[in-house]
Amino acid sequence: MHLKDFVSIRDFTPQQIRHFLHIATQLKARPSDYHAALQGKTLAMIFEKPSLRTRVSFDVGIEQLGGHPLYLSPDEISLGKRESVHDVAKNLERMVHAIMIRTFEHQIVVDMARYASIPVINGLTDYSHPCQAMADYLTMLEVKGRIAGLKVAYIGDGNNVARSLMFAGAQLGADVWIASPPGYEPDQEAIVWARKRGPETDASLTITHDPEMAAFAADVVYTDVWTSMGQESETELRKRIFAPYQVTWHLFTRAKPDAIFLHCLPAHRGDEVTDEVIDSARSFVFAQAENRLHAQKAILMELMQGAYREREAAREPLLELVR
Ligand code: CP
Ligand code: NVA
Repeated sequence: MHLKDFVSIRDFTPQQIRHFLHIATQLKARPSDYHAALQGKTLAMIFEKPSLRTRVSFDVGIEQLGGHPLYLSPDEISLGKRESVHDVAKNLERMVHAIMIRTFEHQIVVDMARYASIPVINGLTDYSHPCQAMADYLTMLEVKGRIAGLKVAYIGDGNNVARSLMFAGAQLGADVWIASPPGYEPDQEAIVWARKRGPETDASLTITHDPEMAAFAADVVYTDVWTSMGQESETELRKRIFAPYQVTWHLFTRAKPDAIFLHCLPAHRGDEVTDEVIDSARSFVFAQAENRLHAQKAILMELMQGAYREREAAREPLLELVR
């Protein structure tokens, strides 16, 4: 498949999303088969927000494929302040083979992908977190043996993680339920997109304010922090508003007896989830974190191998002149 960027789950067909998951399972099963897949390639990683999982999984992932990571910290680039997004893209495309970026405004990633001739991967924006969703569904596939028809109940803020979860659910045939306090639901445009894609894959999306209804008979119960990076000034207000949406053992037992608990992490224990749930035998949060590595290796390989072939082909006439 030819794909330059990984900016949104929405940019792909259901077949392409399944293909990424398929490659991820191959990479996870036989990592040594792919140890030189991206030999000599460099991945620039731009971080404008903190990270543990994204930083480590991309860093280790590109190394495991034979390439090199280049970490660029928030103070180093000052995207849009020290230098425009356009100019950063045009510089990096001359020296590295792909860019992973974690930033605030989603438009920055969209612009970076438009300006750069090399692959650009969304490592989280205020709007979405597509790499996370790939790891989420990879985990469901492993633990539940299927994705189609699963009831996935997300309880909490209708944020970046919730949007990507519902987009990927629509692509993969899941029945996604989102339970958020009034005013904190995912935006209407995102809901409309997921519901439009749904009939193609037999997926559905239900938005409710009732966490018990969402959790009822669910296969997967998922939550995320109530206050995302960049919203710190709202922390106290959000704690009050989201209190009825805490995933407690009582709420979790509304789900099927074999339901699993997922969380993208970092978790704020005692806020969105209790220790009892996140530390239970049915919590797969660390397997889910590990799957960031496998899912992203699949993304890196699919995007970078394709881009490399094209770039080499474009360079050939110049090599002729030198000879
Ligand atoms: N889930 C996730 O993206 O974690 P980090 O913020 O630590 O990268
Ligand atoms: N919604 C959270 C996810 C962190 C991985 C945030 O944006 O901070």
